[in-house]
Amino acid sequence: MTAPSPLPGRLADFVQGMNAAVSAGADETRAVRACEALLQELVAHDDWLPEDCSRPHPVHYQQYLLHRDPADRYSVVSFVWGPGQRTPVHDHCTWGVIGMLRGAEYSRAYARENGRLVPSAIEERIEPGQTTCVSPSIGDIHLVRNAFDDRVSISIHVYGTDIGKQSRHVYDPDTGAVKSFVSGYANA
Ligand code: FE2
Repeated sequence: MTAPSPLPGRLADFVQGMNAAVSAGADETRAVRACEALLQELVAHDDWLPEDCSRPHPVHYQQYLLHRDPADRYSVVSFVWGPGQRTPVHDHCTWGVIGMLRGAEYSRAYARENGRLVPSAIEERIEPGQTTCVSPSIGDIHLVRNAFDDRVSISIHVYGTDIGKQSRHVYDPDTGAVKSFVSGYANA
């Protein structure tokens, strides 16, 4: 008798695909392109996320670790929004691909101009099955929020390092003041 896989089938397939993508020594552009295609497959079905990684918190969003590459080449998390919850304006300091699994979310990009933060006029809405990307080279600062005030939304995020221990930043959108933070995980 073989031991059960510690990862649900679809996530195991995704991890296998990611391992192949990063083993090929891909640069950021190729890694993100491969990741986005794999993530679109993963979030095309909402039948695999473990219940203990889909629980909202009554006060703030939750970030659950789903898989951490042993060499820190990437990490996979579920981002669980309670009704009406949002992030501060923040960055990632690595590439990231976001895929919507359940519900919907809004992301508004911010640009740094002369020490100030300028919000994009457009707020991007991400629906189940859709993906979007962030990185220092294409735009890394944004504010994300649950599109719904009356239900939970969940997106799956993949980052180009162990995002839970990555030093990154939150921004005061009014003053442009910057503060470092390390997010950790709700479950690790
Ligand atoms: Fe983000």
